[in-house]
Amino acid sequence: MTQTDVFLEERAGVSAPPLLDVRGIARRLGSHQALDDISFSLASGDILGIIGRSGAGKSTLIRCLSGLERVDGGSITVEGTEITALSETALQTVRQRIGMIFQHFNLLSAKTAAENVMLPLLIAGWPKRRREERVAELLDLVGLGGQAKRYPHQLSGGQKQRVGIARALAASPALLLCDEATSALDPETTTSILALLDDINRRLGVTMVLITHEMSVIRSLARKVIVLDHGRIAEQGSVAEIFGAPRSDVTHSLLRGFRPELPDHLAAALRPEPFPGSAPLFRIDLAGENARGTLLFDLAQSFRVRPVLLHGGLQDVRGVAVGSLFVALADAGAAPVDAILSFLLGRSQATELLGHVVPSA
Ligand SMILES: Nc1ncnc2c1ncn2[C@@H]1O[C@H](COP(=O)(O)OP(=O)(O)OP(=O)(O)O)[C@@H](O)[C@H]1O
Ligand SMILES: [Mg+2]
Repeated sequence: MTQTDVFLEERAGVSAPPLLDVRGIARRLGSHQALDDISFSLASGDILGIIGRSGAGKSTLIRCLSGLERVDGGSITVEGTEITALSETALQTVRQRIGMIFQHFNLLSAKTAAENVMLPLLIAGWPKRRREERVAELLDLVGLGGQAKRYPHQLSGGQKQRVGIARALAASPALLLCDEATSALDPETTTSILALLDDINRRLGVTMVLITHEMSVIRSLARKVIVLDHGRIAEQGSVAEIFGAPRSDVTHSLLRGFRPELPDHLAAALRPEPFPGSAPLFRIDLAGENARGTLLFDLAQSFRVRPVLLHGGLQDVRGVAVGSLFVALADAGAAPVDAILSFLLGRSQATELLGHVVPSA
C-alpha cells in the first residue's frame, strides 16, 4: 500500500458513513429478552459473520436488520436512513436495498427459476423488457444461464440456493442478509456457494451479514465476527482476532476443533507447580505479523532458555496466518516466568502459562 492509498483510506474512513449502523437495539419475544443492547457498524463491502449457540438470537437479529421484525429500543440505520421509526410504506423502499437468502431457499415451487428471480422486480414495478434482461444477467451471474425455465424440484440444492441468491440480488441491494444459507448443502456445494458469495462481494461490493453454525464458513468468508450469547454481544472483532485469541467462554466452545488444543497426553502430564526436571509450558496465540518472524529465537536469546515446541498449528484465515504454539521453556532455571510472560504477551495475541511439564514429554 502506498502513502497515497493510506491517505485515501484514512480519508474514506473519516468521511464515509457506515452502510449499516446498529445502536443499542433490544427485542423482547414474550417474556424472553431475545436481543439486548446490540451495537455494531459495518462499512460498505464488509462481510460480518454472526455466530452463537442455538437460541442466542441470531435469526431475531437478522430479521430486525431486514425490517421484518420491529425492535423495542435502539436504532438501525441503513445507508443513512434510520429504519426503526419508519412507516410500513417507507420501510418497503428501504427493504429494496436489502436482500435475504435462507437455509431452505424459500422459492415458489410453482414458478420457474427465472420467475422466482423476477418476483422482486415485479414488485418494484420494473418494465417487462428491463426485467427480462436483468433476470438473464442475474442467472448468468450465479452460473444458471441454462436453467431459466426449470422449476425448483428440477434443481439441486446448490442450484436452488443460486436462484435464491439471484433473487436476493435482483434489485441491486446494498446489504445481503444470509441466515444459514449453506446449512442444507453438502460440503462441496457449500464451498461453491461460498465462492459465489465471495465473488459477488468482490465484484459488486455488496455488504453481507452471515449467520451460520459452520465455523468453516466464517473462516473462509467473514471479515468481522460478532459472537451472540443470550441476546447480547459476547465479543466482536476481526475474524483473525476471534479465531486467533477468543476471549469469551462461548467463543472458545464454538471454536472447539478450529483452534489447536493441547493433546490429552500432554494435558494429563501438566502440573500446576514446577517439579524437578520440569519446564513451564506456554500457550502462545498468534495472528498475522505475530505469527511470522523470530519469536522463539528472540525468546531463547533474551532469557537464555531453550524453547521446545510440543504442539501447535497455524491456519490461513482470509490471508492471515492464525494459530497457537505450545512451547515448553527448558533450562528456564532462574529465568523469571513473569518477565517471560510479559515478553510473550507483547509479541502475541495472547499467551497463557498452562503449567509445568517434562519438556521431552
Ligand atoms: N414468541 C416467542 N416467545 C418467547 N420466546 C421466543 C419467541 N420466539 C422466539 N423465542 C426465543 O428467542 C430466542 C432467540 O431465537 P432465535 O431464533 O433468534 O435464535 P437463533 O440464534 O437463530 O437460534 P438457531 O441457531 O437455533 O437458529 C430463542 O431462545 C427462542 O426460543
Ligand atoms: Mg436461527
